[in-house]
Amino acid sequence: MRISVLTGGGDCPGLNAVIRAVVRRSVKAYGWSVLGFRHGWRGLLQSEVEELDLKAVSGILPRGGTILGTSRTNPYQEQGGEARIRQELVARHVDALIVIGGEDTLGVAARLHQAGVRLVGIPKTIDNDVNGTDYTFGFDTALSIATEAIDRLHTTAESHDRVIVVEVMGRHAGWIALESGVAGGADMILIPEYPVSVEEVCAAVRRRHERGKNFSIIVVAEGAVLRDAGGTPVQVQSERLDAFGHARLGGIGATLAERIEQQTGFESRYSVLGHIQRGGTPSAFDRFLGSRFGVAAVDLVHGERFGRMVAIHGMQVVDVPIQEALGSIKTVDREFYELAQVFFS
Ligand code: F6P
Repeated sequence: MRISVLTGGGDCPGLNAVIRAVVRRSVKAYGWSVLGFRHGWRGLLQSEVEELDLKAVSGILPRGGTILGTSRTNPYQEQGGEARIRQELVARHVDALIVIGGEDTLGVAARLHQAGVRLVGIPKTIDNDVNGTDYTFGFDTALSIATEAIDRLHTTAESHDRVIVVEVMGRHAGWIALESGVAGGADMILIPEYPVSVEEVCAAVRRRHERGKNFSIIVVAEGAVLRDAGGTPVQVQSERLDAFGHARLGGIGATLAERIEQQTGFESRYSVLGHIQRGGTPSAFDRFLGSRFGVAAVDLVHGERFGRMVAIHGMQVVDVPIQEALGSIKTVDREFYELAQVFFS
């Protein structure tokens, strides 16, 4: 038996732990061989492939990114994409495919499975917004990086009596902003799920000054929506769309810092963490979760339980239909937001 694996969408700390686990479990428990398709779905369309034996995955556990490379290629946007993928799998004598990705990559996997391709999914994203699982690997590492950045920015904000706006990732869900903001002691947190006005942010900053605190830290998710005094949402984003129709976000931190300075008169700066949050060594939590997911996915293939996705519910690794990850994302619920509000100034 020969299986294959690919990583699609944005890279994420812990991907290499998953790839290593897939290979180890396949080779050692079942005596299978493993092929890796490079650059996500692009590897299947362009026949970019490599053999993954035990040697190929040796030493990759602490490495960030993905040894297979990744892309945001959408085969359903390509001429004859589905048929080309099926042909490639047959030509390479691949019996089953393990797909590691977020909502977009898993959406393609679900369509292919409906068309008869034998595959299982593994959820991945630093945003932790995939439905059907309590956690995705990568989130824990991103959260630690964002929290450390907030800690570091605190010292400059305090020394210079400044407001510092920290822009973190989170396109539709504010998990990174919310949890790093609470962990780092932010004075206000803006996330896509609960829009606030610039006036509310300025009021929080003024309250701190009245209490004798001449600096503030504001954490904002890149996808957060500002409401101006009249209630009009203002979202800052570039016009460029990827193959799955997503705009490239970024810029809300700069806009917010400028408006805070204009309206309060307090010197304000911003810092955009961007891909720093996705890079570097994965945390132990992400390596462990990734290893568990990789092993569980291979076991699903062994049981011929195709169309399933591994997930974690509480402490338990389980599996759910891939469809559970699709259609909507896992957003921050009110309970968590209300908890964060306890710590706003
Ligand atoms: O989905 C993960 C994510 O990191 C989002 O938070 C962010 O909006 C997006 O990927 C950025 O994608 P890219 O690396 O392709 O610019």
